[in-house]
Amino acid sequence: MKKKIIVTGGTGYIGSHTLIELIKNGEFEPIAVDSCVRSTPETIQRVEAITGVRVKHYQVDICDKNAFFNVFELEKEVVGIIHFAAFKCVPESVEKPLMYYHNNLQSLENVLEACEKFQLQYLIFSSSASIYGDVKELPVTENTPVGIPFCPYAHTKQIGEQMIHFFTQQHPHLQSVILRYFNPVGNDMSGLNGELSPDKPNNLMPIVTQVGIGKMKQLTVFGTDYDTRDGSCIRDYIHVCDIADAHVKALLFLENQKNTSRCETFNLGSGNGVSVLEMIDAFEKVNGIKLNYVLGERRPGDVPAIYSDSTRANQLLGWECRYGINEMVESAWKWEKHLAQEH
Ligand code: NAD
Ligand code: WQD
Repeated sequence: MKKKIIVTGGTGYIGSHTLIELIKNGEFEPIAVDSCVRSTPETIQRVEAITGVRVKHYQVDICDKNAFFNVFELEKEVVGIIHFAAFKCVPESVEKPLMYYHNNLQSLENVLEACEKFQLQYLIFSSSASIYGDVKELPVTENTPVGIPFCPYAHTKQIGEQMIHFFTQQHPHLQSVILRYFNPVGNDMSGLNGELSPDKPNNLMPIVTQVGIGKMKQLTVFGTDYDTRDGSCIRDYIHVCDIADAHVKALLFLENQKNTSRCETFNLGSGNGVSVLEMIDAFEKVNGIKLNYVLGERRPGDVPAIYSDSTRANQLLGWECRYGINEMVESAWKWEKHLAQEH
């Protein structure tokens, strides 16, 4: 029998790609729990079309403890939770801090209570490279000190990690993995599932594809006078399917008792820094289109460069990136064109 895994945020960007990877692996039955506050239930149909497998989805707010616990009453024998559900927009978190503290922390508290009440074995938590803040030394390893939080969003991830550390110390039945993602981009290579970005996205890749398709007029490169190889900022972009795959590997790692502590932390990045101008160049070359962009001022709060040392995940999880920058820009563009055809 397949092992049941609750995937909170399962209709979101990374959650839906993780449903696909879990199904492809074959050992697990993922069950999505997502209120769709930042997504749509139709995503489940996309996942089903890609995998050919029916996926259960409970449209529930995880901050509503009774409704969330009811899922476990209905779904007997759940063994673990992958907890993606959260708000993730940095500027929005600065504008509405309490909304972020409430949603990201109340949901996690309920997830941990569910782990206790239903005696779950595994928890995987979505953390973020944003917890490192303005790093002094590159590449970033898991031992790089956590920085001063630069926004409420990053702060919720720092607090979340600590909550899991303290909780697992008191709950020997639960083994956990914290995954710190760098910059997830790209979509399913089929072009049939992908990120549903807001109308005014903040992140580079959805802006690139929206400018490409004509939804947005122009892309501004935020800063070309940084001390980097071409003056623009450097980030560690990683294909979303590789991020998703790491969650399957993390579950197997716990299942095979390869962990040496009850709470293990891994960076998830490609290990390669790519500049904004290099990303634009790759997008234009791979997809054969010209992007309308201008060189502009620095964006406040941006660090010049950050990229990961992912050796720990490579060695202990047996995980490696399968996709590079070309697949990232190709799949991002494929999905944007698919969305344009749908509407
Ligand atoms: P997303 O917004 O696409 O997905 C999050 C999902 O959670 C959405 O479908 C939303 O409807 C759901 N959700 C939010 N609050 C909920 C609640 N209270 N109850 C039920 N459902 C709720 O975001 P994503 O990019 O897939 O991010 C997933 C996780 O990864 C988040 O925790 C995010 O902080 C983290 N993360 C994302 C990135 C990134 O750049 N995408 C980077 C680092 C970490
Ligand atoms: C990437 C680069 C911009 C838009 C954020 C969060 C982080 C994580 C991922 C959740 C930067 C440049 C962007 C534009 C540009 N999310 N850029 N023009 O800021 O590295 O990370 O998302 O955990 O926590 O902080 O990602 O995609 O916004 O920017 O030149 O119109 O693209 O300056 O160098 P960022 P991003």
